[in-house]
Amino acid sequence: MNESSAWSNPLRNPQDLRLPRIAGPCGLVIFGVTGDLAQKKLLPAVYDLANRGLLPPSFGLTGFARRDWTNDYFINFVKEAVQKHCRTPFKDSTWANLAAGIRFVQGTFDDKSAFDELNKTVQSLDRDRGTRGNHAFYMSVPPSAFPIVSKQLSASGLSHSSQDAWRRVIIEKPFGHDLKSAQELDRVVSEVFDPNSVFRIDHYLGKETVQNLLALRFANSMYEPIWNANYVDHVQITMAEDIGIGGRAGYYDGIGAARDIIQNHLLQLMALTAMEEPVSFRAGDLTAEKTKVLSAVRIPKNLDLHTARGQYAAGWQGSNKVVGYLDEKGIDPSSTTETYAAIRLDVDTRRWAGVPFYLRTGKRLGKRVTEIAVVFKRAPHLPFETTAVKELGNNAIVIRVQPDEGVTIRFGAKTPGGSAMEMRDVSMDFSYGRSFTESSPEAYERLILDVLLGDPPLFPTTQEVNLSWNILDPIEEYWSTLGQPEQYRAGTWGPHNADEMLARDGRHWRMP
Ligand code: BG6
Repeated sequence: MNESSAWSNPLRNPQDLRLPRIAGPCGLVIFGVTGDLAQKKLLPAVYDLANRGLLPPSFGLTGFARRDWTNDYFINFVKEAVQKHCRTPFKDSTWANLAAGIRFVQGTFDDKSAFDELNKTVQSLDRDRGTRGNHAFYMSVPPSAFPIVSKQLSASGLSHSSQDAWRRVIIEKPFGHDLKSAQELDRVVSEVFDPNSVFRIDHYLGKETVQNLLALRFANSMYEPIWNANYVDHVQITMAEDIGIGGRAGYYDGIGAARDIIQNHLLQLMALTAMEEPVSFRAGDLTAEKTKVLSAVRIPKNLDLHTARGQYAAGWQGSNKVVGYLDEKGIDPSSTTETYAAIRLDVDTRRWAGVPFYLRTGKRLGKRVTEIAVVFKRAPHLPFETTAVKELGNNAIVIRVQPDEGVTIRFGAKTPGGSAMEMRDVSMDFSYGRSFTESSPEAYERLILDVLLGDPPLFPTTQEVNLSWNILDPIEEYWSTLGQPEQYRAGTWGPHNADEMLARDGRHWRMP
């Protein structure tokens, strides 16, 4: 596998930084191409990559689906999805070149002849477009379909190529619903694909601001000395959404907020926040550090005191009245699935001993925001009147992952005027939008390109996935004994038991 990209080692070869990384001749096959993710994210990301000149002119895109569509119908379907959701301007010339390499194969996953047809299609792309036998297979399908698709890819000869070409598989989360099922999925996929050819997508790792966390920590000298238990009081990682479950009842019910978000996105953010400096940004070195953090995580003994869950009830989202979770279409009215989850974790290392990491996520909350807040201890001594510092909180560094991407540093300052030394919290802001003219690419652009380049640092390994389930499994098991989660009104900041959970530790959630 090629690990020598500019991202892997930019400092050793500064010239590389100016050269865009362009994928070589190749094709992408998408299973589940008619689904929500493909329409909103994957197809537009492919177009945006093409528009940025990062795909080879010979690129081939193949959709595999049950629907009885012609090739032209599918091309039009892709065009509509792209026009609706692309990030960069729609250009006829880019589209015309991309469209010439689009193919559709109709079939079901249990139909061997459909996979034979897919094989013929891929070979015809090699001949007509020049994809040269290099193909990635994107499983944008539920995990229950991974085994059959993997087996069919193997049986039809699609999973293997000649020596000078590659085959790769991209797997969307969730990787199972607990440790056992994740291990089973892994076994099935690795029977067919070499571990180095399996790319597990956690799209949070493709976000620019998440990568900026590494820049903030390891390209600067002023943060690292205070990034430890001597100075940090606690860390809060929040991923809040204002949307409900949309049309995803079938996926979400029985899965819930913790499996959907904490097991993958939030534990990855936590690992990047807490890890030691990696030897390099090559996949192996980065994984080694993240793995150490995930292995050192300790879940609290009293899960009743240090975890919280909730389920949204009817309420308001801005000026729209919205229904509660149990009244959403397709949801079992007695469902105990949580739409809000909060947990406290500790990291048993010298750097983090005694510093709680609070992770929370929820749907139908006050607003959409993802942030990592590193909250510092109060100054050990304040030589001021107590009344003068009553509006002074803890210092904090907040990495704003989305939507207003940037970094905020919060600290105390003297209020103007007056003879008294009165203090108040103020903040210093870095905003991507104001500091840079170019907009950030979508996470999926970055990740799809990385798969085509064979560049693995931004993809979690099996070991990371398994360690994450190890952390979550006991919590899920405990929650499964509790019955109905507490209801919280849509548009608020979650259930009371989440506030109580932090209050017991003498802290409170930040209001992003
Ligand atoms: C997905 C979850 O992984 O992330 C969804 O399955 C969630 O439930 C989505 O809505 C949020 O992604 P983003 O990039 O909009 O924060």
